[in-house]
This record gives sequence, structure tokens and C-alpha cells, in this order.
Amino acid sequence: MFKILLDSPNVGELEKKYLNDAVDSGFVSTYGPYVTDFENRIAELLHVPCTVGLQSGTAALHIALYECGIGPGDEVIIPAITFAATAHAVLYVGATPVIVDVESDTWCISPSATESAITSQTKAVIPVHLYGNPCDMGRMTQIAQANNFFIIEDAAESLGSKYQGQYTGTLGDLGCLSFNGNKTITSASGGMIALKDPKRAEHIRYLINQSNPGYGFDNHGEIGYNYRLTNLSAAMGLAQVERVHSFLNKKKDFFQIYKKHLSGMPDVFFQAEYPGAENSYWLTAILLPFHQDVDRVIHQLKDKNIPARRFFNPLNTFKFMSGFCQGTLKNANDIYARGICLPSSTLNEAEGIEHVCDVLKELIT
Ligand SMILES: Cc1ncc(COP(=O)(O)O)c(C=O)c1O
Repeated sequence: MFKILLDSPNVGELEKKYLNDAVDSGFVSTYGPYVTDFENRIAELLHVPCTVGLQSGTAALHIALYECGIGPGDEVIIPAITFAATAHAVLYVGATPVIVDVESDTWCISPSATESAITSQTKAVIPVHLYGNPCDMGRMTQIAQANNFFIIEDAAESLGSKYQGQYTGTLGDLGCLSFNGNKTITSASGGMIALKDPKRAEHIRYLINQSNPGYGFDNHGEIGYNYRLTNLSAAMGLAQVERVHSFLNKKKDFFQIYKKHLSGMPDVFFQAEYPGAENSYWLTAILLPFHQDVDRVIHQLKDKNIPARRFFNPLNTFKFMSGFCQGTLKNANDIYARGICLPSSTLNEAEGIEHVCDVLKELIT
């Protein structure tokens, strides 16, 4: 029988080879050649001039906001459906998250809700390319430019996705990536900021090194953070990025299988894509028919050794964030009520995904 995995990392011989090499070199901590190599490979992949590796995607979001000078008294618009880290990062800098609704079909931040939420204090918006699906970056860019605020992309889930031919993470002022264990590629834990401005990149490098100009210095010009990526993490990340195209192809194939089997079912919906958007399908997710009990379906799948999970809880469901919400967030709540994430790990094989479709069809027909 197939072993089906939801989002487990695909780590093998190349990762072992680079990790062993890093250990043998003695560079196991925050200095070492793999950090630069990994940063350069991501920059090449995304066609972006600068990348800075960090300990996590959350650290990347925090430092991106900090680098833009966002702090107390400022507002940052974010979507209601995202992983909580997007909101946490806004709170780390002392700014106020302004949580707006997502669109009912793409499940990504609504440009019109964003526009309605703008005040004189708005300093940034964080579009989140949910499950790999690019936001409407054309509209978001127009809105941000017209109102003179930053776009900090949360591209944690969208490595390899494109909008009008350009990679997500490179469409805004700064783009934040995650290499957490469940992402398209992993560096065990890690993140990266992608950007065009080399001066900002240098400043970010300084900030995440405790605001210390380099190794052997002890001269801190401003508040600093210890957010550097380790050489061990980067060794693993480099091996993964060398395999990224095979991962992306596999995820696309899995999505096509799900689509072939499930899209004709009554009231089953896939994420809609904007014109010009190319989803990298980090995680295939669907909305079940209205009358289905999502928890029951997840349990029944689990009984058949198929892991699945609900969507992220909308941010309004967390008590300490509920005061930051705009309106009823109807779409976010409706999507959460019906959403289910399906096995998408690249350790799966096509036959396994076909099997998931067969079981799911039986359960919800
Ligand atoms: C949308 C989103 N933003 C931010 C993060 C945070 O990334 P990390 O876990 O690397 O801190 C994640 C995932 O973990 C995420 O899915």
C-alpha cells in the first residue's frame, strides 16, 4: 500500500553530502560558504539582484518590516487567511495589523478590501500568496503606489510561483521566503529576503548580525538581531534548491491529478488563479461541498492512512487578534469552514495521489 504524506520534506543523498561537507569544514554555525552559495542560488532562481538568508520566514517578515521603518503608530494591512506569523511579525515591530478579507475564489487578499482599509497611518501591505497561489499583484501594486506605502510579499508558501512572468517574492519592495520543513524546499528552518536594493540588503545583513559590521567586530551601531542562517541550514538549502525543479514538476503533476478527479464533483472548488498567475501548488487545497463536515472527512481520511488538514484558522478566530479585524471577514470564515489541504509532499507518487482521489470521492459522494 502507498504511504501518503501531507507536506513532509524530501531530503536525501545530496543533502547528506552537503551537510557532511559543512560539518567536515568546521563551519557549522552562522559563518561559512554555504550561506552565500544558497543565497546566490535563490537569487539566480528568482532573477533578483539581492537575497539575504535568515533563520526563518518569520524573522524575514520581521526584519523586512523593521527595515522599512515600520513601527508603533503605523498600520500594516494583511489578509485574514494566512499563517499567524504574518500578523506576529507586524506585532513584533509594534505596528497594528489591519486584517482584511480574502477573495472568495482565489482565497488571497482582496484588493478592494485593502483599498477600503487604507488610512493615513497605512505604511505597508503584506500580500500572502496562499498555498502558492499568487495574489493580484497588478492591483496591489497600483494601490500601494497610489497611496505611497510598501509591499512586503509573504512568499513563504510560493517559491517558484509567478505573476505575469515574474517570480513571487520579487514583485513588491521586499519578498520573504520560508524554508521551514513543510515548504517546497527546506533548510531545516530558514528564510530569505529577496530585494532589488543592494544598500537595503547590506543593512539587513548588518541588522541580523546583531548590527555588527562583520566577524571579529564588537561595535553595534543600532539595535540588532541574531537572525543569521547557519552554514548547516544553508548546506541543506543548497541541496534542496538544486532539486527544486523536480519538486515543482511533481507538485504540478499532483495538482493536475486532483483537478482531473475532483473538479467535476458538485460544489467542490479549487483555488481560482488571476490572469497571468502561475501557481507553484505548494499545497493543493479544495473547498468541500457545503453539507460536508470537514472534521469528519479529515478523520475518515486519517482512518485510511491519508493525512489532510483544515485551512489556517482565520486570524479573527484568535482572541488577541480579533480587535484588528475589518468587517465580518465573511469570505475567510466561509472558506475556512469548507477548506481541506490534501497530501502534496513530493515524497508521494502519482499512484498515491490517485488513491487519495478515489478515497475522497467515495467519502464525499
Ligand atoms: C504564509 C506564511 N508566512 C510565514 C510563515 C513563517 O515561516 P517560518 O515557519 O519559516 O517562520 C509561514 C510558514 O511557516 C507561512 O506559511
